[in-house]
Amino acid sequence: MTKRKTIIAGNWKMFKTRKEATELASAVAAGCKGEKDLPEVVLIPPFTSIESALNAIKDSPVSVGAQNMDWRDNGAFTGEVSPVMLTELGVKYVLIGHSERRQFFGETNQTVNQRLKAALAHKLIPIVCVGETLDERESGLTDSVVRRQVGAALAEIPPEALEIIVVAYEPVWAIGTGKVCEADEANRVLGQIRATIADLYKEGGNSGLADQVPLLYGGSVKPSNIEEQMAKPEIDGALVGGASLKAEEFLPLIKAGQKRVQGTAKDSLSKV
Ligand code: 13P
Repeated sequence: MTKRKTIIAGNWKMFKTRKEATELASAVAAGCKGEKDLPEVVLIPPFTSIESALNAIKDSPVSVGAQNMDWRDNGAFTGEVSPVMLTELGVKYVLIGHSERRQFFGETNQTVNQRLKAALAHKLIPIVCVGETLDERESGLTDSVVRRQVGAALAEIPPEALEIIVVAYEPVWAIGTGKVCEADEANRVLGQIRATIADLYKEGGNSGLADQVPLLYGGSVKPSNIEEQMAKPEIDGALVGGASLKAEEFLPLIKAGQKRVQGTAKDSLSKV
């Protein structure tokens, strides 16, 4: 089996001033200091706090991402931030198509695709977010919605990009609700996502590249439920909101990622 990266990413959403970002990022960096077998740890602050977070994690293995970006390099687009601006700062990752962008800010499958192309062109690592709403789940549409989102995001994306892209499955009903998606179900949907990617690239004989794409689960991930998630074969990491806002909650999540890197994550169910 391909050894995929394990990623623990904290999406801070619209939380953390510069001062608070410095404190949190410093605490995360300090908690990672001297640790071996760390997962890739990514802090994703709001734009105004990116530089503070970057300064705080200097000389540490922690990386910083942005929560969104425009797909154009510059122009008369009031309120937007471009990939050129992010790379200049030293940002390594960018979230694309988070459900809150889709729900509240007009993000569509098509603009997700445009942003993904721009991220790749600027050598930012894209974390493409997909996931169904509660209505869609209750109508039995989970798999078709997620497949459609993945297919649209990857339209015209060359196979070699699969060595860079990360996909996060975040069911909308699990975000910020405390209702975590069961590990087996998250694993199943991520398996569907991997199968979809394999299918999209089979024509060029590149299905195998799907095995390299790190797949994350997001939605009410907490220290109390991450271990079970991390033990599943398709779940390569977590995209965390609420529990990433306090070092004392985020550091145990990093620890769970570390166990996965070390191959010691145990499936609690398989022990029964
Ligand atoms: P919560 O962990 O707060 O549910 O948020 C998940 C999320 O949206 C991360 O991008």
